[in-house]
Parts: sequence; structure tokens; C-alpha cells
Amino acid sequence: MRIDGPCKLNGELRVHGAKNSTLPLLAASLLCKTEVVLHNCPRLSDVETAVRILKTLGCRVKREEETLLIDSSSLQGGEIPETLMREMRSSIVFLGAIVSRLGKARLSFPGGCELGPRPIDLHLAALRRMGLQITEDHGCLDCTVPGRLTGCPISLSFPSVGATENVMLAAACAKGTTVLSNAAREPEIVDLADFLNACGAHVSGAGGSEIVIEGVPSLHGCEHRVIPDRIVAATYLAAAAASGGEVLLHDVECAHLRLVLPVFEEAGCSMKVMQNQLWLCAPERLRPVKCIRTLPYPGFPTDAQAPVMAMLCLADGASVFVENIFENRYKYTGELLRLGARIKVEGRVAVAEGVKSLSGASVQAPDLRGGAALVVAGLASEGTTLISGLHHLDRGYEGLEKAFSETGARIQREKITLEDRKEEKDAASTF
Ligand code: UD1
Repeated sequence: MRIDGPCKLNGELRVHGAKNSTLPLLAASLLCKTEVVLHNCPRLSDVETAVRILKTLGCRVKREEETLLIDSSSLQGGEIPETLMREMRSSIVFLGAIVSRLGKARLSFPGGCELGPRPIDLHLAALRRMGLQITEDHGCLDCTVPGRLTGCPISLSFPSVGATENVMLAAACAKGTTVLSNAAREPEIVDLADFLNACGAHVSGAGGSEIVIEGVPSLHGCEHRVIPDRIVAATYLAAAAASGGEVLLHDVECAHLRLVLPVFEEAGCSMKVMQNQLWLCAPERLRPVKCIRTLPYPGFPTDAQAPVMAMLCLADGASVFVENIFENRYKYTGELLRLGARIKVEGRVAVAEGVKSLSGASVQAPDLRGGAALVVAGLASEGTTLISGLHHLDRGYEGLEKAFSETGARIQREKITLEDRKEEKDAASTF
């Protein structure tokens, strides 16, 4: 991706459907015996991977523009191949739904992760309590349910988003009632509960720390609209603020950004919150933000940490970040240094000392949100920024360069030859 900066974003941007909602909703559609119609599904590689998982399991899936139609009546097998498990770590969220429908599943561990260790112990412990027998063998999980999954009290030691979703999916059609304590409270959990209830499930309390799921014998299909992606919204805001621009976001759920918007205000941005719309106008120079601590929802989201850090690299002073969710979420800061940012990282803490301007360079996206941070910084940098590793960005952002070029950025994808790539590598290793 080539960005010729600096570019001031000016105009209107539409926020697409949430990746982190679409994935569990696709897993949930496995539970439904009649057709599911899911609107507002973004075209992302992670969503395509989830669709491939559904098809591998025998489901019929059709895309019509932003809508996915899923028919799980022919579900069979219960095995997810290792290649698909490795491609997308959140594929583990299919486990609860598969064992609920088929009474068995075979899948591999989702594997290591670019954000640090990402265990699934909470998922497995919870499902075991519900009666799932799991044998771990050479990185494979062989799972069977003698009889039917059984509802029970479950308490998570950490409000894991994925584990909460897995329990909800397993419990929706289990025998009896599941009471899940210390559940994750993210909007995507509420979206999943709304979907399940529209399919005939009895889920209450989602959005709070205790979720009660009364098992029902079976679920039918429904028509549902995926909520807007709050991390894409935060990324667009960070890009507009870093570039000194002014944008109007459409299709945004402002209530989901409760602890994100004050950060932009503290940085000196003017904002106006309207129904499903959000306006932001950047100041002449951004102000630093005292301290941003990532926390489970409703705290500041870890996924917004990187784009917001990129923005604050241009503030008039030092901003402090404390990452409390993932161990290894500052990898991208090394790439920001290439653009002239001043960042010091010490364990979970990072300090971004703002500079007056950044300058374009060749950088590589180390992960999804780190890649988004490089785009934000690239837009604000003087000269040309070349970003490689775009497969990370394609996991979570649909049409990023189209959206930004329509709002005034000089940004495009370029075909890079092997020769160019070698030159890039050589140049990188000189420094
Ligand atoms: C989801 C999101 C991801 C977001 C994260 C935190 C999806 C597809 N992904 O990921 O974008 O960054 O929530 O908001 O929705 N943990 C364990 N054991 C477990 C499960 C989790 O120790 O069994 C730890 C993780 O290592 C991590 C923390 O809990 O440190 C949070 O993980 P979790 O909430 O489960 O994140 P994901 O569901 O993987």
C-alpha cells in the first residue's frame, strides 16, 4: 500500500459491520435448523475463512452483497481442518456450536499468536463443566458429548470474549440452565445474545457480568443485522485526527465508543455525537492524552490501542499507554519508529513522545491493528509510506484505501515485484 502524505482526510465515511460480531454469529448459525439471513457482513478474509469452515462442515452459504444466507440443515462431520484453524485463531468459537449440534468435534489448537500467548484454557474448562469430554492429542482436540450438554454455573477467571461466546453457543440448546459469571460485556456479546433470542433461545443478562442461558431443544433461523464495527470507527477517527482533518462517520453506534470518544476530546478534537453518525474535527495540533489503559469492555479496547497510539505520536507532548489484555501488542511501535515516531516501550507500558511531523518510509504490518496504526501514521507522514503485510489489514478492514482515497488521501495498492521486495529488504537491513 502506497500513501503519499501528508493527506488531510475530509469527508464522509461509512463504518462496515463488525468482524468480531460476524464471526460468532456465523458460528451460531450452525445451531439453527432453518435458514439464517445475516445482513451487514463485511467482506473480510476472516469472514471468508469462517464461511469456508461452515462449508467444510456441510453448510450451504451464499453471499448477496452485504448479506450472507446460511443453511445448516445439512451439517455433518464436525471436523475443522488444521489449515483453517491456523488461518484464524477465533475459529475456536465454532467448538461450542458444533458439539451442541453434533455431539462431537475434532479440531486443532488455534496455534501461537502474534499478540503473545493466546490460550483457550477458559473455553475448554467451561465446556468440560458442561459435560464435554476433550482429549488432547498432538495439538488436536477430540471432543465428544456423552448424551447432551448440560447447563451449570460457570465462572470465568477473566471475562474472555471468545470463552463467553463459546459458552453461550454450547448452552443455548443444552439441558437445563447455565449461569455464566464474570462474562465478557462487549457489544458483540449482546449482538450474539440478540441473535440467539431471535432464533428461539432464552438468553438474558448479556451486556452485564452475569448471563443466564436456559437451554431450549432447538433453534430456528432468523434475519439479523450485524452491529457496526466500533474498532473500524475508532480507526477512522484516529486517521482523521492524525491527519488534521474533519470527517462524518455514518452507520456508527456511538454508545459502543463510550470510553474511546473522551480520548479524542482530550486530544483536542471537536466532536458531535448524533444518532448513528459521528462528526470529528481535528485541532491545529493534537494534545497528548495522560493515560490510556486498555481494559475489557466498557474500558478502552485493546484493539483501538494501536491506531490511537499512531495518532498521538503527533501530539504536543507525551501520552502514556498501559496494555492490560495482550502481552505482545506493541510490535508495531518498532515500525512507527521508522516513520520518525518517538516511542518507548517497557513491558505493558508505552510512552509516545509526540513529534511535529512524521516522514514516510517502508514499513511492515506485524498484525491487524498494528497495520491499521501504520496506515494512520502514513496518512499523516510527509512523503511516501509503503506498507507491506496487507493480508493482516484485509482480515479486519474492508476497502480501507477506497474509503480514505474518497476522503482526500493519496493511497493505493501497488503490485510489488520480487525485485522490489528484495530492494526493500536490503534497504531495511542497512539501518
Ligand atoms: C476478542 C477479539 C479481539 C480482542 C479481544 C479482547 C474476536 C474475534 N476477537 O479476542 O479482537 O482483541 O477479544 O477484547 O472477537 N485468555 C486466556 N484463556 C482463554 C481465553 C483468553 O488466558 O481461554 C486471555 C487471553 O490470552 C488474553 C485475554 O484473556 O490475554 C483476552 O482474551 P479474549 O477476551 O478471549 O480475546 P479473544 O476472544 O481471543
